[in-house]
Amino acid sequence: MNKNNECKRLDFTIGDVNEIYEGPVGQLWEALMGEQIHVGGEKETEILARKAGIHQSSSVLDVCSALGGPARHLARKYGCRVTGLDATGKMVNEAVSRTQKDGLSELVSFRLGNALDIPFHAGTFDIVWGQDAWCYITDKERLLREANRVLRPGGVIAFTDWIQTGKMMDKECEELNTFMSFPYLETLGGYEKILKDNSFVIIEKEDMSIDFARHCHIYQDKLRNELKDGIISNYGKELYGAADDGLNKWVVAADEGKVGRARLIGKKI
Ligand SMILES: C[S@@+](CC[C@H](N)C(=O)[O-])C[C@H]1O[C@@H](n2cnc3c(N)ncnc32)[C@H](O)[C@@H]1O
Repeated sequence: MNKNNECKRLDFTIGDVNEIYEGPVGQLWEALMGEQIHVGGEKETEILARKAGIHQSSSVLDVCSALGGPARHLARKYGCRVTGLDATGKMVNEAVSRTQKDGLSELVSFRLGNALDIPFHAGTFDIVWGQDAWCYITDKERLLREANRVLRPGGVIAFTDWIQTGKMMDKECEELNTFMSFPYLETLGGYEKILKDNSFVIIEKEDMSIDFARHCHIYQDKLRNELKDGIISNYGKELYGAADDGLNKWVVAADEGKVGRARLIGKKI
């Protein structure tokens, strides 16, 4: 850890992300959290939507859209257009097929691509949206620069992410991030600085780490009590053991106030 309490960054690449989400990990996260793969599910999507000011004529870009659960929810509830961007083919294909099945393809579409090089022209969207996924991104400065570029002037960035909230020894930090394949966690202050440096005005920020710790316990109980047998019979004891061990490390770190989650809303100047 350096003098700013930042942990060493780990060498995860987009290839590592693809490998994970092409495999059973996406299914395991869905089993734990639902098809909206973020803490708090639909309720959290609603809170973020209200704070972002989404309405029928909004054009939303969901960066790291995974199975597209939030994108479909927003289109269904508000009638807005949503484009999902995700770097993993399996997630994009699954999102497209579920969207077709739900009859929402006129409003919701998906594109395969990297959040660090967003494949859309400047000023395309009213809202750039992200939920609990930017912790996978290797360069948060570049991500927010890209978000700013694709937003129209006055557009809104609205996101939640897992963050570092306390001091950690490098070994502890490395274990937590290795389990999740996160290159590093941003801090709330770090996100505020990057937003300001990239011509955003911060409208709202909230540290939701106590709620995050509570949810970590909920997910741990679900893993141990509801999902254990199914995971062992589908994927084997080794995978279950690794999941249980990794999640337990997050439960402990969240209880100790070292990791958490934040919500940030900003406006492009
Ligand atoms: C936890 S899931 C996202 C959950 C989703 N936001 C939701 O609320 O349902 C993480 C997703 O991020 C995607 N991802 C990670 N790094 C990415 C990158 N650099 N560019 C685009 N997608 C990325 C992964 O492929 C994966 O589908």
